[in-house]
Amino acid sequence: MEAYLLDWASLLVRWLHLITGIAWIGTSLYFVWLDNHLEVPKPPKKGVAGEIWSVHGGGFYNKHKYLVAPDVLPEKLHWFKWEAYWTFFSGFTLLIITYYARAQAMLIDPAVADISPSTAIAISIGLLILGQVVYEGLCRSPLGKHDALLGLVGFLLLVLVTAALSHVFSARGVYIQIGAMLGTIMVASVAMVIIPGQRKMVDAMMRGEVPDPEFGLRGKQRSMHNNYITLPVLFIMISGHYPMTWGHEYAWAVLALVFIAGAFIRHFFNLRHTGRTVLGWPMAGILILAIVAVWIAPKQVSGGGELVRFSQVNQIVFTRCLGCHSTTPMQPGFAQPPLGVVLDSPLRIAQLTERIKQQVVVSRAMPPGNLTGITDEERAIIGRWIAQGAPLQ
Ligand code: HEC
Repeated sequence: MEAYLLDWASLLVRWLHLITGIAWIGTSLYFVWLDNHLEVPKPPKKGVAGEIWSVHGGGFYNKHKYLVAPDVLPEKLHWFKWEAYWTFFSGFTLLIITYYARAQAMLIDPAVADISPSTAIAISIGLLILGQVVYEGLCRSPLGKHDALLGLVGFLLLVLVTAALSHVFSARGVYIQIGAMLGTIMVASVAMVIIPGQRKMVDAMMRGEVPDPEFGLRGKQRSMHNNYITLPVLFIMISGHYPMTWGHEYAWAVLALVFIAGAFIRHFFNLRHTGRTVLGWPMAGILILAIVAVWIAPKQVSGGGELVRFSQVNQIVFTRCLGCHSTTPMQPGFAQPPLGVVLDSPLRIAQLTERIKQQVVVSRAMPPGNLTGITDEERAIIGRWIAQGAPLQ
């Protein structure tokens, strides 16, 4: 019952996270687009830096961007922050439900580090905070004045932390931890720099003073960082379904390369909005992705050697998999067979050989955290059996 309720909690919170994430990233992409498309009004309008016309949903829209702020504040001013905050709340809750509540299976791999669930959770939360503090420190340090150098240092730190974490968490846990850290940094920028800066600007105007443009500039820098981090973060959030990425021996390098590809593709759109279409960027991004795809392609598992009998495979599946992958799982924390994958009959096993190979032999994602203690030899037997054509006798 408890596991069933957890499944519902997971479903509802994931749904919410997706919706608020779309609302947040959607507005953020829209405003970058808007900013980049602005044109100086002809004839010039007082205090207006740029304007744009657009049509959407049957209506015409004419937006103006003011140099610093309009002379008179409108009565109603719309802020964009709850999308970001709710993405964070729902994301953190989801982290608790899927990773912390099942830390033994999702966050820990005894073959990597035999840590307790509470240690793993403490490390995870500690790093969420530390990541934000370090980022904030970097932005405020003299390095913060040099955008390109700051980006490079930030990126190298990220790769370093990913590689270091692969000695602490399960392979899958590493990716989600990095994704959560980046997401936290993005939301913290909204909550601690962008929104407070805007508030100070508005307050200054209320007092009849000219707002300090420094606040705007600082907020802009954080917005730009968020803009480039967006695509990589979204990749990490969906990567859980693709063990070929995080399950790879050099998962940190895979992440680093996909990160660069995502940032390149984002850069292409940023340039394109301002009328400069430089195809080199997305082409470089796609080339990097192609290189990664070739590099991490599963190696052919040899079917040579002794012929494997199905009964051997069935025995392994029975002891190592059925705890979770049966219609009524016995493994605590699992109310349903995960992803509906049931391995309780020869036919069902035979239908899923490709996915089993990917999960057990290639990426070693299953069993999660190797909860059921499958041995390397057993993995090899499954691999050989599939390579031999998965005969059912
Ligand atoms: C402790 C529980 C547990 C055990 C034991 C376990 N699995 Fe899984 N399995 C899961 C979970 C959880 C998922 C869903 C992962 C996800 O959400 O991406 C899953 C997913 C899968 C999938 C589908 C993956 C996909 O996206 O196509 C396959 C195939 C699979 N497991 C095979 C196995 C095999 C084979 C074994 C035994 C060697 C095994 N599992 C042992 C929990 C388990």
